[in-house]
Amino acid sequence: MERFVVNGGKPLCGSIEVGGMKNAAVAIIFATILNEDECIIRNLPDISDVSDGFAILEQMGADVERLDRNTYRVNTKNVVCGSSPYELVRKMRASYYILGAELGRFGRAHTAFPGGCDFGVRPIDQHIKGFRALGADVTTVESEKSYIECTTESGLEGATVYMDVVSVGATINIMLAASRANGVTVIENAAREPHIVDLANFLNASGAMISGAGTDTIKIKGVEKLRGTDYTIIPDMIEAGTYMIAAAATGGDLTITNVIPKHLDSVSAKLIDMGVEVEEFDEAVRVKSTGKLEAIEVKTLPYPGFPTDMNPQMGVLMCLATGNSVMREGVWDSRFRYVEELKLMGADIQVDQSGKAATFKGVENLVGAHVRAVDLRAGAAVIVAGLAAKGTTEITQIHHILRGYENITEKLRGVGAEIILIPD
Ligand code: EPU
Repeated sequence: MERFVVNGGKPLCGSIEVGGMKNAAVAIIFATILNEDECIIRNLPDISDVSDGFAILEQMGADVERLDRNTYRVNTKNVVCGSSPYELVRKMRASYYILGAELGRFGRAHTAFPGGCDFGVRPIDQHIKGFRALGADVTTVESEKSYIECTTESGLEGATVYMDVVSVGATINIMLAASRANGVTVIENAAREPHIVDLANFLNASGAMISGAGTDTIKIKGVEKLRGTDYTIIPDMIEAGTYMIAAAATGGDLTITNVIPKHLDSVSAKLIDMGVEVEEFDEAVRVKSTGKLEAIEVKTLPYPGFPTDMNPQMGVLMCLATGNSVMREGVWDSRFRYVEELKLMGADIQVDQSGKAATFKGVENLVGAHVRAVDLRAGAAVIVAGLAAKGTTEITQIHHILRGYENITEKLRGVGAEIILIPD
């Protein structure tokens, strides 16, 4: 079975470079459906969610060429509406952006239900609410081959949409659909994540008229057509945050380059609270262990709060801190599936009855074990735990990790880790 083997206990030292942001990349890949023209996308992370995204576009009729490891050229002129392949769509969450993009371009859309990590229920009611507000009829069919279908009589009409919950995916999907609708759309209570700003920048570079991305009110003046563009994706703040925590967990001294430090403020603040040194540069952060880790409390929230996608990695650090730390999950119902894996490594963690908060009692050290990557960020967490632990950790189900972390073994080996990928 394909697996990672990690020999822990080596402090990570040196410099590690972060790639492009997965969650911006997957939105922009499907956004190219709206362009009907040639786009060059740069700084794409070399991960399976990106290759799967382009494979979907290709099977829909797009002309896709990989120019180098991190750059693709794509022309979606010949994309056929409703032709996304079922099996690939089911592999990733972001495939639901096909809906917004097809609606914006064709005035109708059809795709399978998306897949992605299992955090309990992952509703799409806010996406549907947005599409309906713009005038689409939306049908969801849940059967053996579940799908979502949207139709309109004569295209979409701009409208004001108030989001009942702050949703990254729904904000992006409505932006996509509205960018070529008739008239003005306003999204209120919009998500403010950096990848929403990145998508707006990509669409604006293609001729869209979007303002307010990064605030909770986004205004989209629909345009008739979008054109091709050449666009570079922003750095991945979750990949960066994962390496920041790995530095602290292993007692290391790591400079993480190609980052936007502002995006890491919430992670930096918590590391500093724990007693770790964090120094910011223009496009880098240095994380240096001081040998101590104090217990802290964290609540995950939408951006600019502490990211839910850093909950598992921060959980590892909490295992190693002196005293009792508390993690409260403010985004997903079921984010603590990684706890059982960390317990196999000697962690002392109690998840409360609601399943949305956990108390971490610090232990002297974690010990190597055979654990699973139960989802993408849980997988990152068991890698960090393995790097910090005494002995050898074997990690299976690593396809989850390869969906989102570019070149992770080489990057970590470059800063002193002992980690190898053993192929199937
Ligand atoms: N929600 C609803 N209704 C909806 C949509 C969401 O109630 O229609 C709820 C969800 O149940 C959840 C909350 O709103 O409680 C936030 O969900 P959101 O829609 O923001 O999440 P998402 O778009 O499905 C993206 C990332 C996730 C990340 C979340 C939160 C992508 C492809 N995925 O998911 O990233 O956890 O935002 O920041 O962008 C990851 O990268 O590992 C990952 C899982």
